Amino acid sequence: MAESSTESLVTGFFLSGVFLITGGTRGIGCAISVEFARAGAHVIANYLRNEKTAGELKALAEAENLNVDLCRADLTTPDGLQKIVAAVKQTGSPLGGLVHCAAIGAHRPIIELTARHLDWTMALNVSSFFELAKLLLPSFVSGSSLVVLSSPGAARAIPDYAIVGASKGALESLARHLAIEWAPRGIRTNILAPGAIATDAWKAIPGGEAKVAEATKRSPRGRLVTTEEVARTARFLCSSEASGINGHTLVVDGGAGIAAWC
Ligand SMILES: NC(=O)c1ccc[n+]([C@@H]2O[C@H](COP(=O)([O-])OP(=O)(O)OC[C@H]3O[C@@H](n4cnc5c(N)ncnc54)[C@H](OP(=O)(O)O)[C@@H]3O)[C@@H](O)[C@H]2O)c1
Repeated sequence: MAESSTESLVTGFFLSGVFLITGGTRGIGCAISVEFARAGAHVIANYLRNEKTAGELKALAEAENLNVDLCRADLTTPDGLQKIVAAVKQTGSPLGGLVHCAAIGAHRPIIELTARHLDWTMALNVSSFFELAKLLLPSFVSGSSLVVLSSPGAARAIPDYAIVGASKGALESLARHLAIEWAPRGIRTNILAPGAIATDAWKAIPGGEAKVAEATKRSPRGRLVTTEEVARTARFLCSSEASGINGHTLVVDGGAGIAAWC
């Protein structure tokens, strides 16, 4: 691990140093990439297929003079992981943080799911973070932060969500163990759990738009949380303002999770 510390780099809500955002060019991940870059970070935004949204992020970054590099890499392959590690090393700077947003999953009843669905989902949602965190350990310094994106399905049963929920439960447990094991190094790990957000992810889910409409109707505030609200919380968790928060699950759902009717 590098000798230096990011304590002097990550001050208040200002972020300095390199931050890797997986799934960082679309949806919540894109909002986090923009938020972090606007806060002063050098962002590496990882993605896999969607060149259009990656190009839009790049164009926005150029228009605002933000420091954003794109890294197209499949997190479920050794080559993809090595490509990301190389991109981080190439910056020559310590890694201030890793935010793991990339996720996939089959949305079906358990009876229709196979071991292949399970392996496919776990490979990205859990194993890639496990591998990436370990590979990047030499680049982290005291003051660095890891944040994983979870969801209400990690702890509660949601129709057709068994495999993704199971992966988020595993991811949360892994994050809590990491939080304790790497605390002596000054590295914090936290879990960020948004409520439903109307991203493109819902379009790929059968009946997704109706589910979003229902979640909106039931929301205590009459609206869903936004990607920007989640991004600001991610920035807080990675900032020195959150220096005492480690191994915590921070729910950003506008109160939906505690409303008895939700
Ligand atoms: N949306 C919600 O309502 C909600 C609620 C709670 C929690 N969350 C969590 O928040 C996170 C972001 O959600 P979202 O809705 O913004 O997701 P999303 O729009 O579906 O984006 C998923 C991202 O993962 C990337 N990706 C997929 N497979 C990959 C692979 N093999 N290697 C690298 N990247 C890969 C995608 O890249 P491409 O763009 O190239 O395809 C995309 O950037 C997820 O962890 C999700 O579970 C979402």
